[in-house]
Amino acid sequence: MEFTSGYADRRDDIIRLFKDTFTVSEGAAEGDLIASLVTDMFGKVTPGDIFVFSAFEGGTLVGAVIFSRMTYAEDERTVFILSPAVVATGQQGKGIGQALLSHSMRSLRENSVDVVLTYGDLNFYSRVGFHRITEEIAQAPLPLSYPEGWLAQSLTESTLTPLRGSSTCVEPLNDPAMW
Ligand SMILES: CC(C)(COP(=O)(O)OP(=O)(O)OC[C@H]1O[C@@H](n2cnc3c(N)ncnc32)[C@H](O)[C@@H]1OP(=O)(O)O)[C@@H](O)C(=O)NCCC(=O)NCCS
Repeated sequence: MEFTSGYADRRDDIIRLFKDTFTVSEGAAEGDLIASLVTDMFGKVTPGDIFVFSAFEGGTLVGAVIFSRMTYAEDERTVFILSPAVVATGQQGKGIGQALLSHSMRSLRENSVDVVLTYGDLNFYSRVGFHRITEEIAQAPLPLSYPEGWLAQSLTESTLTPLRGSSTCVEPLNDPAMW
């Protein structure tokens, strides 16, 4: 398997992977919502505020994960949030998601990211270092409809201490439907 962080010339492939996979797993409306989110991530987020990692098997795109910047008003640490993540329907359950995320975390660490947040299923994300947090550790930018899914990990040697102040996310995630 190969991993890459360049995405300028494969934006449409990545959008299609998200759309097709979420349409299969969660229905057409969710497929459309995710496709629109990823399109906005590529079109509206400043390059320094986004990381995209893709996985290829035999030259075919099989997975993609997107990280975008979060800002904590009174905290100097560099924080990114993972959302969304996908592995192609026929390729799930083979370890690709975990391998892609482990690669991504190494790369983010090399890029001086201190903390990574995500909002999802602990059963999966705990396998790549995430643990449950409360909003005393990190305020969410919008109300959480599923607080059990609020997860984080420190990419430094230090354990995660509370992120200070209120938070803001990139514009495409600033939508109650995502939270
Ligand atoms: C979630 C996803 C990215 C995981 O990637 P993957 O390559 O299938 O996962 P891996 O093979 O590395 O890990 C599989 C393990 O994670 C867990 N897992 C996988 N998908 C899961 C999910 N949607 N929810 C909870 N746990 C999940 C399983 O317990 C599995 O463990 P097992 O093999 O012991 O049963 C992928 O399944 C996917 O794209 N699903 C549909 C879209 C989605 O739900 N995206 C995440 C929300 S943004």
